[in-house]
Amino acid sequence: MKSGNPYDLSAVDPAMPLRRQDDEQTMSRPDLDLARTDGDWSGLYQRVRASTLALAAPLSAEDQAVQSMPDASPVKWHLAHTTWFFETFILKVDPAYRVFDPAFDFLFNSYYEAVGPRHTRSERGLITRPDSRQVLAYRAHVDAAMMALIDHGDAALWRSLLALGLNHEEQHQELILMDIQHAFSLNPLEPAYQADPSPVASPAQLAWTAFDGGVVEIGHDGPEFAFDNEGPRHKVWLEPFTIASRLVTNGEWMEFIADGGYRQPRLWLSEGWGSVHREGWVAPLYWRNVEGVWTAFSLAGRRAVDSNAPVRHISHFEADAFARWSGKRLPTEAEWEIASGADCIAQVAGSVWQWTASPYVAYPRFRPAGDAIGEYNGKFMSGQMVLRGGSCATPQGHTRTTYRNFFPPAARWAFSGARLADDV
Ligand SMILES: [Fe+2]
Repeated sequence: MKSGNPYDLSAVDPAMPLRRQDDEQTMSRPDLDLARTDGDWSGLYQRVRASTLALAAPLSAEDQAVQSMPDASPVKWHLAHTTWFFETFILKVDPAYRVFDPAFDFLFNSYYEAVGPRHTRSERGLITRPDSRQVLAYRAHVDAAMMALIDHGDAALWRSLLALGLNHEEQHQELILMDIQHAFSLNPLEPAYQADPSPVASPAQLAWTAFDGGVVEIGHDGPEFAFDNEGPRHKVWLEPFTIASRLVTNGEWMEFIADGGYRQPRLWLSEGWGSVHREGWVAPLYWRNVEGVWTAFSLAGRRAVDSNAPVRHISHFEADAFARWSGKRLPTEAEWEIASGADCIAQVAGSVWQWTASPYVAYPRFRPAGDAIGEYNGKFMSGQMVLRGGSCATPQGHTRTTYRNFFPPAARWAFSGARLADDV
């Protein structure tokens, strides 16, 4: 498969968990690997739920109530919505379960049409009641019922939905960090959520690994948890390609800016060029030039841009334009999955999600579930692009080689970056 390669692709685990490397800049996140529960579901449930509260702990009630844009949600809403998920899809199946507050269905249903009507997404910041105390009481009520169910209920009835609920909550843990960073970035004080991250080592020399192409298989298949959009496993034809050993760095991005990357329409997709003008893009989100020095706002506050660190908070349009400026292109998601599964590229998870050239569409033979859970992923397969890997804000053990993250191509508030590829 790969030219002169030491990698045996036939031995690649189709759903290999992606672990961070020691040299990657990470936040302090607990290891919540669902594949290593050893059957201790109650312990895992408690760790995931406690981890969410730990993320909210440094935030005041005012911090937790703010909504900085329609795409972002208040932290308090995340705390309640993840709880609503367990209550709605697991606990309510039992007619004996006592609902905490029937009004919460309307407030904390995100997008499930089959469940019923819901509050307008862009107005979640207006929900000052229930207050934070009541939301914490809601979490405690649902936690007590969940623990009783896990301890005494029929596991066959709740295990797969519990795994989904915990993975769902882990996704919202990353959203909490994305959303509070965006909110804090709009505060003139630019407060820090956490202490300085450790400095990033010099990036490794950029190397390229060539693959011969041919018929390969991608997608999840197996008993381990995966979201429905990761399967079915299926065959894909790949032309020969090469892929970069590491991520695009801030230093390389500053060269792109200095070379007029944001001012050359020939580098940009038409829709992206429209975003450059409409949004006034001159650099990644959160960057500001202060007396000739590029600075970036992060969860650690505003700092000079570290030229060694992977660039982040770029849209798909920016990643695509950078690739064109470099004389390269973005990898397709199939190329990325084959390369990461072959373990021949660095920085696969733990820094930034990596934009691919692939639109977010269904794999062959994909059929979403016929109930409300079928709305989880399938109905968003339009107008979005796939990102692969994982980020510094992704819980340890949450992501896999087959994992498909997705955002609209102009979105920049995710921990998103780029890795280059090229044709052979
Ligand atoms: Fe959700």
